[in-house]
Amino acid sequence: MSARSNPDVQLRRYQLDDADRLALLLNDPDVTAMTSSVPFPYARSDAEAFLSDVRNESGRKVSRAITLDDVLVGGVGLGPRPGGAEEIGYWVGKPHWGKGIASAAVGAFVALLDDLGVTGSINAQTVAGNEASQRVLIKNGFVYVGDGECITPARDTAKKPSKRYVLER
Ligand SMILES: CC(C)(COP(=O)(O)OP(=O)(O)OC[C@H]1O[C@@H](n2cnc3c(N)ncnc32)[C@H](O)[C@@H]1OP(=O)(O)O)[C@@H](O)C(=O)NCCC(=O)NCCS
Repeated sequence: MSARSNPDVQLRRYQLDDADRLALLLNDPDVTAMTSSVPFPYARSDAEAFLSDVRNESGRKVSRAITLDDVLVGGVGLGPRPGGAEEIGYWVGKPHWGKGIASAAVGAFVALLDDLGVTGSINAQTVAGNEASQRVLIKNGFVYVGDGECITPARDTAKKPSKRYVLER
């Protein structure tokens, strides 16, 4: 199997000293523009607020850092999104795109939810044109269930066309 299709991706809890790395990778409009709740610009104070919040993990609110060779390269989580619906969300820092990291991380995250006893279907929503993210979902068994609209109040007030997916489990 090629390295691209099977990168050595690990998930771990966030640590307080991840703030610099988060601020480096997330202060990038190409990454934040496709997420539901990451502000842009993204300052170290945004990372610190996020790291403080994810320490309060409970029930169906689960967040993990994605690492490759022990270096933080992205994030994946399940929890309430703007508007209130619970969805899976994920991102990978741009220097690490196209290596199969998100595909592997979403698969590992679903397995982690199993281990944590978090059952039931998992919803996902992508900006309509985010074909890379749609591939990640489909490769992990998510099924397209219809179009919608997403909001990104951390960045602007516009509603954007979206595609909705569900993983039944
Ligand atoms: C979407 C994102 C997470 C993908 O991360 P990644 O690690 O590069 O993804 P992978 O390498 O695992 O897989 C990407 C898949 O999309 C495909 N892809 C990439 N760009 C594409 C494009 N423009 N059109 C169609 N498919 C595309 C790749 O070919 C790959 O599919 P394949 O394995 O069948 O070839 C990453 O681009 C990102 O963080 N984007 C910004 C944030 C975001 O969109 N988050 C998701 C919110 S729903």
